[in-house]
Amino acid sequence: MKKRGLLICVEGLDGCGKTTQAKILVRKLRRIGYNAVYTAEPTSGKIGRFIKRYCLHGGKRVSNIVEALLFAADRYEHVATEIIPALKDGKIVVSDRYLYSSLAYQGAAGLNLDWIRRINEHVISPNLAIFLDVEPNTVIKRLKPKKSVMENLETQRKVREVYLKFVENGELVRVNGNRSKREVAKEILSTILNFLEGG
Ligand code: TMP
Repeated sequence: MKKRGLLICVEGLDGCGKTTQAKILVRKLRRIGYNAVYTAEPTSGKIGRFIKRYCLHGGKRVSNIVEALLFAADRYEHVATEIIPALKDGKIVVSDRYLYSSLAYQGAAGLNLDWIRRINEHVISPNLAIFLDVEPNTVIKRLKPKKSVMENLETQRKVREVYLKFVENGELVRVNGNRSKREVAKEILSTILNFLEGG
């Protein structure tokens, strides 16, 4: 088993396929000998469950400040109870959403990006952050009927704009998600392996 603690996050719009891709990545990394684990935000812990009920499926959008603080609180718990212990064990942690979701979604809702970073300043930085880029029109067609408050074209367009700013400044690595599941998985894996091998 290859031992190296690493935090990778997979980001993208709702319905872009990141959960599927994050899980495929974990399987592939394990197959080649890395001890990889899948995790996600919002978490399945108390704060994450509260967020899903109150912020995402409560019918109307709560204040963007409340959203940002709750997501940050969930993230601090996530880091303390799951991410840090896994990294200490030398695992590769693949997080389906992380800090960039707060910057993109709560930033798109009008919050200052520096403030969002400030309330998240005690979480650890990911070693690598992937943005799985799929057109907002495409994700909207894919989304199931039981929509969350985020799942509308206007929000998804704004969120994508913010994500793309982080692609431009080099914080996120863009992967074109408008292709087959297999092709996307292949590119994500090679991006990660390149990074692991220092390429
Ligand atoms: P998911 O269904 O892709 O897991 O994501 C849940 C929703 O929560 C999605 O619309 C993005 C949103 N979200 C935020 O707005 N801020 C955050 O910090 C996180 C982690 C998720």
